[in-house]
Amino acid sequence: VDAIELLTGQHGQVTELVERFQGSDSDEERLQLATQVIAQLRAHATLEEEIFYPAAREAGDELEDDILEDLEEHHVVEVVLDELEGMDPGDERYAAKFLVASELVDHHVEEEEQELFPRVSRLLSDDRLRELGSAMQERHEQLQADAEDKTKEELYEVAQDLDIPGRSSMSKRQLADAVRRAG
Ligand SMILES: [Fe+2]
Ligand SMILES: [Fe+2]
Repeated sequence: VDAIELLTGQHGQVTELVERFQGSDSDEERLQLATQVIAQLRAHATLEEEIFYPAAREAGDELEDDILEDLEEHHVVEVVLDELEGMDPGDERYAAKFLVASELVDHHVEEEEQELFPRVSRLLSDDRLRELGSAMQERHEQLQADAEDKTKEELYEVAQDLDIPGRSSMSKRQLADAVRRAG
């Protein structure tokens, strides 16, 4: 995979989820969509910060200022995402906060796609871009596996709601199986 195609594809996925959020008036659905957006944005930012931006900086000093600005934009988005995560989707400020976060993301994505990515693709060879794409793909899979690991607590909460007996001594896999059977 080409690095820029991979990142652009992820931008598109987030935009689609944001549009679905805007079209929804159910708190439950909004929470679910926001949770997906937050997870996808965090993974995406990690790939850029760990792999893509450092490679772009190495490719040319003239990208340095842009990338430093991009890092600050990631930071501001992350601050808002952290706040959202701690909020109830029924809160009157929830949707507004989500939309402000998505405006920040839109602005950032536009700068990347209009300015940074074209410059990086001029500076790096196709081989190098593919190499970075593969590295990011691999890292993405790892991040997704890590994210799944964190859900034992969530599975436990579901098991509690379903009143599954013996849940407190179950492993994550046992919890997942029990929840699946009960569901
Ligand atoms: Fe970015
Ligand atoms: Fe990006």
